[in-house]
Amino acid sequence: MREVAASMSDAVAVVTGGNRGIGSEIGRQLARLGMQVVLTSRDAAKGEAACRRIGEEAGADVARLTTFKLEVTSADDIKALAAHIAAKFGRLDVLVNNAGIQIDPKGSRALGADLQIYRDTFETNVLAPLALIQALLPLMKKNGRIVNVSSGLGQLSEMSSGTPAYRMSKTALNALTRIVAAEVRGSNILVNAMSPGWVKSDMGGPYAPRTLEQGADTAVWLATLPDGGPSGGFFYERAPITW
Ligand SMILES: NC(=O)c1ccc[n+]([C@@H]2O[C@H](COP(=O)([O-])OP(=O)(O)OC[C@H]3O[C@@H](n4cnc5c(N)ncnc54)[C@H](OP(=O)(O)O)[C@@H]3O)[C@@H](O)[C@H]2O)c1
Repeated sequence: MREVAASMSDAVAVVTGGNRGIGSEIGRQLARLGMQVVLTSRDAAKGEAACRRIGEEAGADVARLTTFKLEVTSADDIKALAAHIAAKFGRLDVLVNNAGIQIDPKGSRALGADLQIYRDTFETNVLAPLALIQALLPLMKKNGRIVNVSSGLGQLSEMSSGTPAYRMSKTALNALTRIVAAEVRGSNILVNAMSPGWVKSDMGGPYAPRTLEQGADTAVWLATLPDGGPSGGFFYERAPITW
């Protein structure tokens, strides 16, 4: 098992979009490390089912794995989540902004694009992580880890055509990562972005070469960084990559 900072072993973590895919796996791995994990899901029943499934399949400590209904684009849901975390735990140590969508129509191009696709994509992939950070960072009390699940498709250094709204949203999420990291510099809140690679999930599809476990690994590593670890970085397979 990987090393975890002592203060992180009993930490409280929120993972968005935790009912399936990479988010569910990040939650499973954090719970197995001893964290109290709140797997959020916009469908409460799916969140409950994910907690049950993880408990049965992986033997995680399910008492530590709970769910909370969160549509990430809902200001009311975010407010309710912050109140829930404050009342139940009194603090938050880890926030993983994992929920994301890729809704560019097949073959879509920025030239001639339907702007509503961009608005919807940015609401979920950029503005929701920003709103969640705004609402939950005060619960970190100057000590925490924020992980933004980004994508290699957001790398400016590799930018090309294809899925333009998704690409732009992940580039913006990367910018948000750097901005927040700069705003909290001097505290022990470490803010990083990561790419899971091309992962077999509903979004990645059946031909993706990477497993959920591989896709989740770097997010879990960033969520358990020791004090003084990197902040404001972009990582793949636990190593920095270009923006
Ligand atoms: N799979 C890949 O190859 C890949 C590659 C690079 C980056 N990523 C990133 O990794 C993250 C997870 O992707 P994945 O492959 O696990 O995708 P996925 O299988 O499609 O799962 C997406 C998760 O996000 C949730 N979600 C989407 N919109 C939401 C909203 N408005 N409110 C609340 N939850 C919402 C979904 O909930 P529902 O079940 O309710 O829809 C689901 O739990 C995303 O940020 C994605 O961009 C994935």
